[in-house]
Amino acid sequence: MTPRPRAGMDSNGAPADLAPVSPSTQIYLQVCRYIYMSPITVYCLTHASSLHLYLLCLSPPLESIYRVHSIMIPGSYMLCFQFVGCCLLLLLYSLRFRSSSPGHGPRSYPVIGCLVAFYENRRRLLDWYTEMLSASPTQTIVVDRLGARRTVVTANPVNVEHILKSNFGNYPKGKPFTDVLGDLLGKGIFNVDGETWYAQRKLVSHEFSARTLRELEVAVLEAEALDRLVPALEAAAELGGGAVDMQDVLRRFAFDVICRVSLGVDPGCLDPALPAPRLATAFDAAAGIIARRGAAPVSAVWKIKRALDIGSERRLREEVKVIHEAVMELIRSRKKERFLVNGARNDLLSRMIECGYDDEEIRDMVISFIMAGRDTTSSALTWFFWLLMRHRDVERDVLEEIASMRQQKGSSSSSNAGEGFDLDDYRRMRVLHAALSETMRLYPPVAWDSKHAAAADVLPDGTRVGRGDRVTYFQYGMGRMEAIWGSDAGDFSLDRWLTLPSDGTAGGVSPFKYPVFQGGPRTCLGREMAFAQMKFVACAVLRRFDLRPVDEGRTPVFLPLLTSHMDGGLKVTVRRRAVETTRHGAMRDTQLQLEKSIN
Ligand code: HEM
Repeated sequence: MTPRPRAGMDSNGAPADLAPVSPSTQIYLQVCRYIYMSPITVYCLTHASSLHLYLLCLSPPLESIYRVHSIMIPGSYMLCFQFVGCCLLLLLYSLRFRSSSPGHGPRSYPVIGCLVAFYENRRRLLDWYTEMLSASPTQTIVVDRLGARRTVVTANPVNVEHILKSNFGNYPKGKPFTDVLGDLLGKGIFNVDGETWYAQRKLVSHEFSARTLRELEVAVLEAEALDRLVPALEAAAELGGGAVDMQDVLRRFAFDVICRVSLGVDPGCLDPALPAPRLATAFDAAAGIIARRGAAPVSAVWKIKRALDIGSERRLREEVKVIHEAVMELIRSRKKERFLVNGARNDLLSRMIECGYDDEEIRDMVISFIMAGRDTTSSALTWFFWLLMRHRDVERDVLEEIASMRQQKGSSSSSNAGEGFDLDDYRRMRVLHAALSETMRLYPPVAWDSKHAAAADVLPDGTRVGRGDRVTYFQYGMGRMEAIWGSDAGDFSLDRWLTLPSDGTAGGVSPFKYPVFQGGPRTCLGREMAFAQMKFVACAVLRRFDLRPVDEGRTPVFLPLLTSHMDGGLKVTVRRRAVETTRHGAMRDTQLQLEKSIN
């Protein structure tokens, strides 16, 4: 049953008179709502305090009342009245902070909230939030700051399950999220809620489980790895251990793969003979500007820039135009081609044309896939290679697993041809799976993800959520929470995965404890595809090349953009690995022996 609105309120709980009044009075009423007081209380208090001057500017109809009162009240009483009113207002505002922020969170003050602490920690927000969440008995904090909506941040698996699954309907992405990404993603699956999302999800999950798409993915991976990735690293090795930015190489590789799978075209990003394709640079630029929009302390700034079509917003409009035109052109030419060759392709774009979607819907859907598949796997792999360079014992275990799988398949270990594995073989690689899962626990490609409450709610740990509040589940912090992973939460340890029941995946861990791929009805659709791709690249690179960091002493910085990055990239030297596998599958790195004999 729909609850009846209270007297004086509309069905959303907003004052019923919000619509017909002037814009300035609307702002006045919004201020009242923001500080949870009735307009009359605020009027009485502000009338008696020095703040009334500001609010009078907002609320012209009240000015006349003020004038009448001013004439009637003598000056000395007025001053006293103002002082008491000011104190009362501050007291009530502080109480609002207390009542809305039970438990833990940054130190907050009336009006500005936690602005000071936020500013002090602005360059280490992830670690700051993680520290506060660890200190909170419920692993939940409330962040209230001038210029931003009230935000509940949680690393509590029971809360995460409530948000992502049990009360899914109350936690859509919401308008503040879709506003930020809308210019690029339009109505693609990433950026819609409700019925539109459900219809796309049904279609896309069907496509993602189709055998044809999996076959296409394996074929694309083989071609991209053997024709481009391996030759690029070989060229670096030829130069006697020349330095390569692995993050850049992996991002180019992932862009080529996702374009070939979703658009059916090869941008050739990793091909040194070709210039960087315009589509790739447009995606890079647009994603960067959108990430800055999301991180802006005050969203009004980018909205004004967009309205005026200036600066970064103008650039964004131009880059999005390039992307939209390129994809639309592809759709048109694919439709013509389909007419001529009677639809023989398996890529997602062709499949959607088959389903009869209109051009703009197809455009938005494929742009969402490219965004989803572009930087996520390359981010995870960058941190994976870095961690393996720091944990040579884990690298040895991974190499051993690859060698023994190749032996089982009858591939010669020195063969440079394809990896010789199918998707089932990759699924059986437990050590590699554990190493990738452990990497993403500490360095998740999506560092945090937010929803916006459609209605007021109370989380299972007792935290109150107001209508419109931002509710963030925090993958980065969750991966480091001792309450979830034990006292060795900060260590890179495969045991926590390898001791789980062996079901061919690193299953057994609740997605709400490890929401790296999200969980519930909106769980990532590309999880399987992503693991296949990451395992493919790990096998192709590790068994052929020995990577060493250019700067051994560096601890790279984790940058939480739309998808996380390693700040400054991952510069490595590349050497060809000559591997011998003993009868028992143990690995001996003859490269090292060779180096020793030379020295
Ligand atoms: C390591 C790699 C990946 C990680 C960690 C990852 C993680 C995630 C996360 C956290 C979400 C939820 C984001 C949100 O709702 O805002 C998501 C959604 C999604 N992912 Fe992935 N992803 C990965 C790779 C991929 C790949 C390769 C694809 C394939 C193109 C893909 C397709 C999708 C799609 C279509 C959604 C939207 C699902 C929906 O809203 O119903 N992902 N992913």
